[in-house]
Amino acid sequence: PASTARLPHGHLSVGGVSLAETADRFDTPAYVVDENEIRTRCRTYRAAFPAADVLYAAKAFLCRAMVRWIDEEGLGLDVCSAGELDLAHAAGFPPERMVLHGNAKSPRDLATALRLGVGRIVVDSPSEIARIAALTGPARRQKVMVRVVPGVAAGGHEKIRTGTEDQKFGLSLTDGSAQHAIARVLGQSSLELTGLHCHIGSQITDVKPYLVAVRRMVGLMARVHESHGVTLPELDLGGGHGVAHRPGEPALDPTALARRLTAELAASCAVAGLPVPRLVIEPGRAIAAPAGVALYRVLAVKHTGRTLFVAVDGGMSDNPRPALYGARYAPRLVGRVPTAGPVAATVVGRHCEAGDVLAADVPLPGDVRPGDLLAVPVAGAYQVSMASAYNLVGRPPVVAVHGGTARLLIRRETQEDLRRRDVGA
Ligand code: LLP
Repeated sequence: PASTARLPHGHLSVGGVSLAETADRFDTPAYVVDENEIRTRCRTYRAAFPAADVLYAAKAFLCRAMVRWIDEEGLGLDVCSAGELDLAHAAGFPPERMVLHGNAKSPRDLATALRLGVGRIVVDSPSEIARIAALTGPARRQKVMVRVVPGVAAGGHEKIRTGTEDQKFGLSLTDGSAQHAIARVLGQSSLELTGLHCHIGSQITDVKPYLVAVRRMVGLMARVHESHGVTLPELDLGGGHGVAHRPGEPALDPTALARRLTAELAASCAVAGLPVPRLVIEPGRAIAAPAGVALYRVLAVKHTGRTLFVAVDGGMSDNPRPALYGARYAPRLVGRVPTAGPVAATVVGRHCEAGDVLAADVPLPGDVRPGDLLAVPVAGAYQVSMASAYNLVGRPPVVAVHGGTARLLIRRETQEDLRRRDVGA
């Protein structure tokens, strides 16, 4: 699929809709989501992994329309809170095609999951096993998986690496806590262990760590077979497939990943003497990120020291990723054709701290001026979902574009919204 990463300066439309008109109609800052690109990415995954269960990781970006698109494209849903579960359920998504994650599931998370009948729950700590079992009735066994730490270091930034021992997720393979949890689950008559899960990290652009994870997970499945005589039908490898934010950056190609994973899984299972389990994958970013564009209006341009600062009407409240992970974006001038060549600029937000930088040292046309529109491509994942109300700047709207028309999915958060939650004094 075509990614918004390839938009040139001056490019006017996404999904057949002019970005400049979208900015005029819905005001800025705003997020724009290309429905067709989301659907195309879902189809690419379904085609690349025809025998696997592809779950979209809702944490990347969730709203009712997104739930509907994911459902219509035949994917399942990975949710990690009662809130995500509730929204997906309210939008009509079948709970049995959802998987619940979380290292610290609240009583409400678990109660909601069992009440709605979520497909599988991924166990992340020993104490959770009895908590889930206590909520099941005699009539219904709950399907669970156990999250394992395969000891693989991968991911675009230290804060999103989850495959190694020194982080909070999963149960260790090396100290026996994964094996112990598996035995406990197998001992609970109200729980059905469907398989093992791992998620090694996020924004991974190399296939190799996934292949190592497959070998280790199949090794563990073989030990489960030896010790308990149980053949587990599923292996969930999580998500983490990396995307390019700037032209020329690497991305993980789902088709190449599928080919290598399937081959490795078959080979590892042959060595272990196990039947090949059904694969489950959980891409979030790879489906949502390339389909989104963030739109900002330039409010101020100035030189300070050696830097040309271009300040826009959003910032770290609508995109905390540069501040949190050092994420790099490539803003483009849109809505007019530039009349000057590129200069190095630093695009900053409107928030009251110096770390509120959206894109440091990026090329922008030298005639950039207040009133200009900037578009930040590949803004569809972990931006809407991680937005905050810092400085009581309301969160931006989400606009879907499709076949030449734009429609509002999430409205702008107003000052009244922000005031209404404040019930004290
Ligand atoms: N499955 C599990 C269990 C996960 O924890 C995650 C992401 C995913 C799937 C989806 O990963 P993806 O395919 O989207 O990489 N806020 C960070 C990313 C945190 C990812 C957390 N877990 C960011 O903006 O980069």
